[in-house]
Amino acid sequence: MPMDVPPNIHHVGEVTSTMDAARQMLTAANGAPFAVLAESQVRGRGTGERVWISPKGNMYFTLCIPEKSVTPEITPVLPLLTGLVCRAAIMSVIKGADVHVKWPNDIIYAGKKIGGSLVESEGESLIIGIGMNVELAPPVTDSGRASTTVNEVAATLGQPKVTPAQLAELVWKHFFQMISDTALTRKILVTRFDAAMDKSLSLHRRTPTGRDPEELRALRLNEWGHLIVSRPDGTEDTLMAEYLF
Ligand code: BTN
Repeated sequence: MPMDVPPNIHHVGEVTSTMDAARQMLTAANGAPFAVLAESQVRGRGTGERVWISPKGNMYFTLCIPEKSVTPEITPVLPLLTGLVCRAAIMSVIKGADVHVKWPNDIIYAGKKIGGSLVESEGESLIIGIGMNVELAPPVTDSGRASTTVNEVAATLGQPKVTPAQLAELVWKHFFQMISDTALTRKILVTRFDAAMDKSLSLHRRTPTGRDPEELRALRLNEWGHLIVSRPDGTEDTLMAEYLF
C-alpha cells in the first residue's frame, strides 16, 4: 500500500460505536481503506467489554483496512503499532510533548491515560478503533489511573488547542506511513514500543471483577511483543494477552 494514502474519513454525528458504524460501511468500501470519525458514541466500548464513555469533544475514530495491507509478522502486534501511531500523532502536533505508551494499547502522558485502542477483524478487514481524550477526561478513571486530555497537554506546553478532526488526520497519516514502511520488522516495532513505554507505572492485572492486588512493573518486551513484568518479590512473569490497569 502506498505511503501517501489520502485520508478517506467519514465524519458522522452520534453513533452507537464507530466500530459498528465502520462494519456497516465495509461492503460499500469494497476493500478501500476508510475511517469513521464520530462526534459522540452512546455505546462506546473499550477492551474487555468495558464501557468507553464518549461525550462530544473527544476523538472516536475507527480505521478499516484490508488485512493484507499489514505484513503477517506485524499483524499480531498491531495494538503496539497503533499505540506508537497515536503517540507520533500527538507529538507531531504538540511540540515537546513527552507522550508514552502502556502495554498493550494505552497512550499515557505524565502517568495519566489519554487514550487507547481496540483491534477487531471482520472478514478480510482489520477494524482499528482509537479513542483519545481531546477536550474532556471522562469521570471514570482506569481503576485508579487518572486520565488527561490532549488539550490539557497542549495548554501545559503553551500551545494551541487541537481538534478531534485534526488529530484523526494525523493518526491516519502516521498509520499509513508506518504500515507502508517496508523496513519495519516486528523486532524494530517491539524495540520502539519498549523505548516508548512508561516503565514507572504501577500495573495490576485486570480480573473479571476488578483488579488483582499484586503490583507489577513493566521491565521489557520480548521479541514477540509480550510484556515481561517484575513482581514485588523480584521474580519475573511474561504477560501475553492480559490487559492491565
Ligand atoms: C481501551 O483503552 O479500552 C480502548 C478504547 C477504545 C475506544 C475506541 S473509541 C472509537 C472506537 N469505538 C469504540 O466503541 N471503541 C473504540
